Amino acid sequence: MKLPLIASQIEAGVDRALCFSHGQLSFTPMTQIYNYHLFFCTHSRDDGTAHCEQHGAQSMRDYAKQRVKDLKLKKVRVNNAGCLNRCNLGPMLVIYPEGIWYRYESTQDIDEIIESHLIQGKVVERLQR
Ligand code: FES
Repeated sequence: MKLPLIASQIEAGVDRALCFSHGQLSFTPMTQIYNYHLFFCTHSRDDGTAHCEQHGAQSMRDYAKQRVKDLKLKKVRVNNAGCLNRCNLGPMLVIYPEGIWYRYESTQDIDEIIESHLIQGKVVERLQR
């Protein structure tokens, strides 16, 4: 699946970030800040229920962050996130501005997401959830 055009998302107003600067609130198109913003759930809990960190989510997030840096991808941000409430499907990653969700299992999956989604602009359908 080819990613939707950024322009159509701007028209729909779904990619704006609320910014606070110099005492003023304003909306800035997200793509002026980042082309892609990745959120890895790295939540952990010890009550025996499913959580992303039980699959090594933090180390996978760290791997992704280093790969983005090594590849010198511009305007790409890789962040940790708390629970994204899709625990039983985890480990979960969501990429904006499209809001595409992935379940990954390995560094090879992360490499494929970076190459296909971030570089070629194509969703990795086999990992999409
Ligand atoms: S612990 Fe990751 S989605 Fe809930």
